[in-house]
Amino acid sequence: MLAIRLTAGADRLDTLVLPVRSGDATAGSEAPAELLATGAGLPAEALEEAAELLPATRLTGRSGETRAHLRPGRTPARLLLLGVGDGGEKDWRTAGAGLARAAADETQITFALPADVPAGAVGALVEGLLLASYRFRMTDAGKAPALAEVDLLLADPEAYRDAVETAETVARTTRLARDLTNTPSSVKNPQWFADQVAAAAADLPDLHLRVRGPEELAAEGFGGILAVGAGSASGPRLVELEWRPADARTHVVLVGKGITFDTGGISIKPVPAMKLMRKDMAGAAAVVAATLGAAALRLPVRITTLAPLAENMVSGSAFRPGDVVRHYGGLTSETTNSDAEGRLVLADALAYAERELRPDLLIDLATLTGANAVALGKRMGALYSENEQLAADLLAAIDGAGEAAWRMPLPADYVEHLGSDLADLHSSPAVGGGSVTAALYLREFTGDLRDRWLHIDMSAPSWSDGDDAELARGATGWGVRGLLRWLATLD
Ligand code: BES
Ligand code: MN
Ligand code: ZN
Repeated sequence: MLAIRLTAGADRLDTLVLPVRSGDATAGSEAPAELLATGAGLPAEALEEAAELLPATRLTGRSGETRAHLRPGRTPARLLLLGVGDGGEKDWRTAGAGLARAAADETQITFALPADVPAGAVGALVEGLLLASYRFRMTDAGKAPALAEVDLLLADPEAYRDAVETAETVARTTRLARDLTNTPSSVKNPQWFADQVAAAAADLPDLHLRVRGPEELAAEGFGGILAVGAGSASGPRLVELEWRPADARTHVVLVGKGITFDTGGISIKPVPAMKLMRKDMAGAAAVVAATLGAAALRLPVRITTLAPLAENMVSGSAFRPGDVVRHYGGLTSETTNSDAEGRLVLADALAYAERELRPDLLIDLATLTGANAVALGKRMGALYSENEQLAADLLAAIDGAGEAAWRMPLPADYVEHLGSDLADLHSSPAVGGGSVTAALYLREFTGDLRDRWLHIDMSAPSWSDGDDAELARGATGWGVRGLLRWLATLD
């Protein structure tokens, strides 16, 4: 990961980055972009040159916009003008991403920040730099970006140390979630995922990990996880990771869907729908990464994270449409479509959390339905909760972190579609509103914690088809940033 250095003196001036803000919108669209005044110690001659050439660059100051100017034989040898937009955190994050891409072929750059820049803005800038420079390639010939060091020139570097360290932790854990999600399923079976969690947790004190294998799952009655995992040569696992700081008052349980590959099972998916199903554990990756992040930041909140892991395969031992599954705690589901597997594993985990862990708040993230993208497009999670405060808090944290989600309804009228002649519940009613009915199904397993529960269907925003601001093509790590920001508000 790119190294960020905070410095008060411009000791290395090869490429100097200068911030340009958008012209004042209230003055009309003609308002020209402006160079933001930066700290002392910079060659006055270079600053004058930048100010002179600004109008000719036609920069608007939109965040992430860049123009390079070469000054052979002089110091600095390159000026890079960078739009930072309106000065809000979102724009600083986008500016960081634009900078990471524009300077990808440099090895070191120095960015002179405005004298009065808020710590939150610098944190967002660092997140943008670290997230946009992410690459996942499985080849020795992979071309990693050359950019290795970014010096941030600040009048009082110490005042920014905490914000930058937090941003680095948020970015590092988001990148871990991306790595886990991008990894091909030939490598990523349930045991591999559990091993990755163990390796990451070993670096941090006060984290406790328990991994259940098929025998323990059978002994304790986790029928949903076992059914979905039954068709695979790589057996299912249940990861239980706990961060328990001494001073915690609130206990949060996070649950993430961990299907390491989703063929659809016997109700097999067609080719285009199956091609990216290695990402079907993005929910598990996000909650695990957020928990590791919370531990690294030593947030004073108790977190127990559950990742039910299984590979949904087609084979002679696979579960069948029409089978009845008995979940943890005893509720049964008629499984008419083996491709509705995520809710079966989540049902076990939610019921276990409700009965055994008794948290104050219960949150789950899942790449649950294609209907998420039908309803909200590719960038937004679908958020469900009956708890107004919890929904508002999560939405605010997600938005503040630069992610996006939209609150969806849990209509009482639709509950009847969950009825089954054979079992307590029908796992996949074909009545439309697929993301909504899936949420209603999950709610049945939350018992008396129903109004302390929140679910996010994040199938759509878990993946990006291209590079876009701080998102790099592939897994996005969606949820890590929003969860960490929300967890940091609890005590
Ligand atoms: N993993 C899929 C959902 C999904 C689709 C995630 C596209 C990411 C992108 C899930 O297991 C699934 O197959 N859902 C079905 C449910 C249906 C069978 C009730 C769906 O959405 O079609
Ligand atoms: Mn499926
Ligand atoms: Zn799935």
